[in-house]
Amino acid sequence: MNSKEKVMVVGSQGQIGTELVVGLRKIYGAGNVIASDIKEIDKSEQEKTGLYEAANVLDAKRLHEIIVKHNVKEVYLLAALLSATAEKNPAFAWELNMNGLFNVLNMAKEGVLSKVYWPSSIAVFGPTTPKEYTPQYTVMEPSTVYGISKQAGERWCEYYVNKYNVDVRSIRYPGLIGWKSAPGGGTTDYAVHIFHEALKSGSYECFLSENTRLPMMYMPDAIKATIDIMQADSAKIKIRSSYNLAGVSFSPKDIANEIRKHIQSFTISYKPDFRQAIADSWPQSIDDSRAKTDWGWQPGFDLQKMTVDMLTNLKNQKK
Ligand code: SER
Repeated sequence: MNSKEKVMVVGSQGQIGTELVVGLRKIYGAGNVIASDIKEIDKSEQEKTGLYEAANVLDAKRLHEIIVKHNVKEVYLLAALLSATAEKNPAFAWELNMNGLFNVLNMAKEGVLSKVYWPSSIAVFGPTTPKEYTPQYTVMEPSTVYGISKQAGERWCEYYVNKYNVDVRSIRYPGLIGWKSAPGGGTTDYAVHIFHEALKSGSYECFLSENTRLPMMYMPDAIKATIDIMQADSAKIKIRSSYNLAGVSFSPKDIANEIRKHIQSFTISYKPDFRQAIADSWPQSIDDSRAKTDWGWQPGFDLQKMTVDMLTNLKNQKK
């Protein structure tokens, strides 16, 4: 990018967007990173968000206007409905997750954008996928609306790269855990709520069963991976659907035991709901060797380190 070109995060108010904007501004400077989300915000709030444009990703015309106005060349497209919310509103989830992607891909095809980041998910896998150390290339029969939209999105990203020579990069995120922003509508969100409740009330009722092991990742690792894949030389990005990415795998019982090392009186109970079936359809651990060899991915946090960091930061935030 030259100094006049800018990057934009679409879905900047969400769980990943909030932290990604901060990370990108550290690298490119506050004035070169446009935050964008659907919500109109007033002037006083703008002090918190920095450079901000309200836009609905389904409104291609408005999106195009903002991108041209700011000379945006790279878009991080994070606006989407997550797994649990998507099950409640399948038609809208499909519309948002697919047409939002097409709007951005088409701007890359027209040459308006030079690079696009789009997140995929472990939800692209399904009940027939091998559950342990799930390979990059394997059976993929997702059984959720969210997973179907992510799998289709991956196919479209690769198609646009091959057919129209655009530069699209993608990662299959595991469940993401962070303290700076609230998650919204995911099946893996229990792993965030559990920390808040441990500090607030000392107990947590989990919507997944105790031994439901899932691939997870601490947010600083996810942000690092996102920025790393976007900054890597194009030739290194050999997979243009989406890269498997792994951090740490654990169950609600494992994380509760880890929290108990710091808050001895913490208790957990289990009341699985509809999200259990979603979790049961996903892998338990991921083989991310291609991300490691192709563009040098290395996670920095395990369960122990993440738990200490989450509890410390949440305690400080509450003061
Ligand atoms: N964390 C997401 C969800 O639970 C998976 O990508 O929906």
